[in-house]
Amino acid sequence: MMNALDSSRIPQHIAIIMDGNGRWAKARGLDRSMGHQEGAARVRDITEAASNLGVKFLTLYTFSTENWNRPAPEVSALMALIIESLEEELFMKNNVRLRIIGERDRLPDFVKEGLDRCVRNTAGNTGMTMVLALSYSSKWEITEAVRTLVQQAAAGTLRPEAVDETCISRALTTAFMPDPELLIRTGGEFRLSNYLLWQAAYSELYFTDTFWPDFTPDCLQAAIADYQNRERRFGKTSEQVAGPQS
Ligand code: IPE
Ligand code: IPE
Ligand code: MG
Repeated sequence: MMNALDSSRIPQHIAIIMDGNGRWAKARGLDRSMGHQEGAARVRDITEAASNLGVKFLTLYTFSTENWNRPAPEVSALMALIIESLEEELFMKNNVRLRIIGERDRLPDFVKEGLDRCVRNTAGNTGMTMVLALSYSSKWEITEAVRTLVQQAAAGTLRPEAVDETCISRALTTAFMPDPELLIRTGGEFRLSNYLLWQAAYSELYFTDTFWPDFTPDCLQAAIADYQNRERRFGKTSEQVAGPQS
C-alpha cells in the first residue's frame, strides 16, 4: 500500500485536465483514438476511486472549446466515445450523479440526448458529483457570465454596486459547487489551457508527466497525498495559519 491519506482532509472538489492520450498512443505506435479509448477507461477507474475516497465533486476536462479545432474525424470519434463510455451502471453502483458544464449548443444532438438522459437518470444519486467539462473553456464561461450580469443591469434587476465576487461565482456554470482545492494536470504540460481560471484562483496545482491513460487510482492517491503535505496560506503567514487564532 502507498501513501496513507488523512481521511479528514480529502479535497471536496478535484479538477483534472486529462492530457496525454495522443502521446500515450503514439509511444506505442497506435492511433490517437486508441489513446482516447484507454483514457475513457481511466475516467471510469478514477471516478470510482475518487468516489470511494469521499471526494464530493470531480470535474473532468473532457473536451475544450479549442479542441473543436482538431481534425474533424478526431472530433467525431471523441463525441462518439463520450456517449459510449457513459455507463449508467457505474454511476448507479457508486451513487454518482452526472452534471455537464460547457457550451451545450455546439454539441451534436446525439451527444446532447445521451448526456441529458444520463444526467436525468442519475439526478437522484447522493454521492459524488462527476462533472464533465465539455465544449468548455473558462473564457467562454466568464464571457457568458458577464453578458448575463450586464443584461440584468440593463433591465434594472441588478445594481452595479451589488456586483461582488459571490455574484460573479453564482453567474458561472460551476455555481453549484465549491472551488477545486486540488487541480491535477497529467501529460507533462505546465498550463491551464483555459480551464477553471476563476475557480482555480487558490487551487493547489499538481502536474505529473504521467499520460492520462496511465493515471491509476494510485496516482490519484499520490496527488492527494502531495496536496495534504502543502500548507494553504491564502495570503497569510505560516505562523498565522499554524497559530491558534488563524
Ligand atoms: C487529452 O489528450 C484528450 C483531449 C484533449 C480530448 P490529447 O488528445 O490532448 O493527447 P496529447 O496531448 O496529444 O498527447
Ligand atoms: C486540454 O488538453 C483539454 C482537455 C484535456 C480536454 P489539450 O491537449 O487540448 O491542451 P493544449 O492545447 O495542449 O494546451
Ligand atoms: Mg493534449
